[in-house]
Amino acid sequence: MDKVVSLCKRRGFIFQSSDIYGGLANTWDYGPYGVELKNNVKRAWWKSVVYERFDILGMDAAILMNPKVWEASGHVNNFFDLKSDCKFCKKRFKTEDLKDKKKCPECGGELTEPKSFNLMFETNYGSVTDKSGIMYLRPETAQGMFVNFSNILDSRHPRLPFGLAQIGKAFRNEITPGNFTFRTREFEQMEIEYFVRPEEADKKLEEWIQARFDWYLNLGINKDNLRKHPHGSNELAHYAKACTDVEYNFPFGWSELEGIANRTDFDLKQHAKFSGKDLQYFDDVKKERFYPYIIEPSGGVDRAVLAFLVNAYHEEKVKDDLRVVLKLHKDLAPVKVAVLPLLRNRPEIVELARKIAQGLKKDIITVYDDTGAIGKLYRRQDEVGTPFCITVDVQSLEDNQATVRERDTMQQERINIDKLKEYLKNKFNEGDR
Ligand code: GAP
Repeated sequence: MDKVVSLCKRRGFIFQSSDIYGGLANTWDYGPYGVELKNNVKRAWWKSVVYERFDILGMDAAILMNPKVWEASGHVNNFFDLKSDCKFCKKRFKTEDLKDKKKCPECGGELTEPKSFNLMFETNYGSVTDKSGIMYLRPETAQGMFVNFSNILDSRHPRLPFGLAQIGKAFRNEITPGNFTFRTREFEQMEIEYFVRPEEADKKLEEWIQARFDWYLNLGINKDNLRKHPHGSNELAHYAKACTDVEYNFPFGWSELEGIANRTDFDLKQHAKFSGKDLQYFDDVKKERFYPYIIEPSGGVDRAVLAFLVNAYHEEKVKDDLRVVLKLHKDLAPVKVAVLPLLRNRPEIVELARKIAQGLKKDIITVYDDTGAIGKLYRRQDEVGTPFCITVDVQSLEDNQATVRERDTMQQERINIDKLKEYLKNKFNEGDR
């Protein structure tokens, strides 16, 4: 894990937030390569759940919502952890992590009695400073989709089963954040709310568990490090009847990437009750009016990014050197192609390499780099997972060919410069890595 964290900082994937001020604990900023990787993860998700299906519509709800939403959803009353504070060093602990310890694990000080701690972040809305202005930063994106259920029915007239998909920030005042970007207080979710007839819920739940499991595998996660964990009844959230997590075997142990839950008709019924609006679905063929059940695949963007990074990290011995390479799936790699001049002191070579990079850039994400010797340039691209490097050398000036080096095999091929774009496009269209 330390090696991945260090690579993330060294190469510009992820930095400590507010670094120059000593940082803000457990808060992270995505740098130039990090934001590309994260966007690629989100794009791959959106493509597979919105663009490649007929039954899911995308949306993007506001982070701030009417506070009644969180009363109806049960978060005001049920979204709690038990915490104990050290009276001496003031550190806060999740009571369940203390495992009956009576003293502070850090300094041995006396602990307060366990107290409920609501995980929602509170803020004040507009100019009102009393209780009536209290708002919450959403702890899940899901509610934005439930409260738009009737807007979607009225504007798009979808038939069951259908779903809504959304990617967005969520906030939780976690008592014990940690493990790099795994558990943070500000994070991003990618959630689907899939509305089904109640009698179809169990079957659809199983289908979604498999579909989401396969999504990680198709993007290169090693199958030995991915598993399904069905929840016992004591692990279920207040709204769920059943749930299975997709877990990844991180260096700190098996941990949840995504939960796929059967939320039943809990949310729609609660919102109907609290808003006074009819949120039933009308089946115009069977002439029935009822509350659909909801199957919810809910994943964390940051956790998926972390899993893809850990999974891709490889160290290989090449002759006497250690090669660090990120074997990211091509769709996820932040940069697809790097063009490198073999001799940076030869203006004709530099000019040709720049021209090649410029020509590719419009169609394929390409960088140009001449800030080091070729060995160093390759190492840099390997460490950020660039699938192809193109090297321009003296011979290129004569035979109009460049060397294409593939990241994982390090095999090299001479390709006519005029055919490079077509060659690379074919490589990327091959689908797998
Ligand atoms: N709407 C359902 C829901 O929010 P959840 O299991 O609490 O369910 C879903 O969260 C996903 O969001 C998790 O599987 C995880 O990937 C991500 N997530 C939850 N809390 C997180 C945190 N504190 N930091 C990073 N990701 C988190």
